Amino acid sequence: MTQGKVDALLGIVFGDEGKGKVVDFFTPRYDVVARFAGGPNAGHTIIFEGKKFVLRSIPSGIFDEGKVNIIGNGCVIAPDLFMAEARELEAAGYQLTDRLHISRRAHLILPTHRVLDRAYEAAKGKAKVGTTGKGIGPTYSDKAARIGLRVGDILNDFDTKYTALKVRHEQILSDLHFTDYDIADEERQWMEGIEYMKKFQLSDTEHEINRYLREGKSVLAEGAQGSLLDIDHGTYPFVSSSSTTSGGVCTGLGVAPNTIGHIFGIFKAYSTRVGSGPFPVELFDETGEEIRRIGNEFGAVTGRNRRCGWIDLVALKYAIMINGVTDLVMMKSDVLDGFDTIKVCTAYTKDGVTTTEMPYDTEGWQAVYEELPGWKTPLSHLRKEEDFPAPFKAYIDYLEKALETPIKIISVSPDRDATIMR
Ligand code: GDP
Ligand code: IMO
Ligand code: MG
Repeated sequence: MTQGKVDALLGIVFGDEGKGKVVDFFTPRYDVVARFAGGPNAGHTIIFEGKKFVLRSIPSGIFDEGKVNIIGNGCVIAPDLFMAEARELEAAGYQLTDRLHISRRAHLILPTHRVLDRAYEAAKGKAKVGTTGKGIGPTYSDKAARIGLRVGDILNDFDTKYTALKVRHEQILSDLHFTDYDIADEERQWMEGIEYMKKFQLSDTEHEINRYLREGKSVLAEGAQGSLLDIDHGTYPFVSSSSTTSGGVCTGLGVAPNTIGHIFGIFKAYSTRVGSGPFPVELFDETGEEIRRIGNEFGAVTGRNRRCGWIDLVALKYAIMINGVTDLVMMKSDVLDGFDTIKVCTAYTKDGVTTTEMPYDTEGWQAVYEELPGWKTPLSHLRKEEDFPAPFKAYIDYLEKALETPIKIISVSPDRDATIMR
């Protein structure tokens, strides 16, 4: 944490690295926590004192009652889902309205955006993205096409603007012959969500954040998704539609590059991916099943199986470079407790060519592995680095050398307190 700076915590692989847990753990050190990209396609799990929450649009700093949480301009927000999420927190005793601020520049996900998500996927044939179906792609498309609705529009002749965009969407759906949908109930909830959102401070959060920074306060930017799902730097077209990398912190919050302090890159001790797209380290065997079972690798939002594999240094090096990661955070090390050997992907190979640099198109590449001895010792009860078994220490050393970046935090179980700082 640096006063007057924005630190970022970014998923640097395919998402679900454990961002929610670490943001929640970090929050006491910061004054403000802000989401800068994505929407309810995210599912950030926070577990403490026997309670579990999965947040989608609300930043994971919300459990620290004294802190301001911001949904930044780079985010997209579905009023009905936001209302359900916020009400769940209110029912659990958290007061939100004074300290959850939403950018008026953030874009609104309409019910018809979600239908379009389904319609575009249906039209894609084999090359489906495996979207979460939350309307993310169509909403960011409308933003880029300069026809989207923003949070600020709620306060200004909203019904007319809403109807105009909905009619436009209905026309596209009709052109696609995608008529099998009924949004009547959804739309009622959505409109209730619009009214509900008016309870919150819908404001110019870009000014607010910069004011905090001038006052010497510290901001934590919470990433969503992961670097390989970034619209520019990910495995296009199998990506999400926002800027999930460190550049997105600036555009998604309205802060200048020279306000950025630490960039924490979070990854798991192995790899997962949910949805389709190339994944050279994917394991289709017993080991993959084992990682999925032990790591409970099922989507927090959709419940889908997450695809599993060994850690991928090609992907991690690329993401560290793209983001300028200063500190690494390694999660879920405990999931590998039982394996005799741990594999590490050090390169990709295809048609006699071997590379350690992330290729333009990761389709068809195969992983090249090195093997390290497993630690065969339960990690989840450990709270001090001195107590780590030697082969686990060797795994950490190996990764730090290969990635040329220090691993500053290690997590060994889902709970808030199982987080070891180095
Ligand atoms: P996010 O989207 O990056 O916030 O991550 P998710 O919440 O989608 O997925 C991470 C999952 O791993 C959640 O179920 C967490 O409770 C869990 N988790 C986080 N850290 C650890 C850890 O160190 N060990 C284990 N076994 N689970 C963890
Ligand atoms: P968090 O923040 C993992 C994946 C989807 C799909 C692709 C596009 O919890 O880490 P979208 O709904 O954005 O159009 O889906 O991106 N995806 C995620 N995978 N974690 C996420 O978020 C994801 N958000 C989107 O599975 O492959
Ligand atoms: Mg998640």
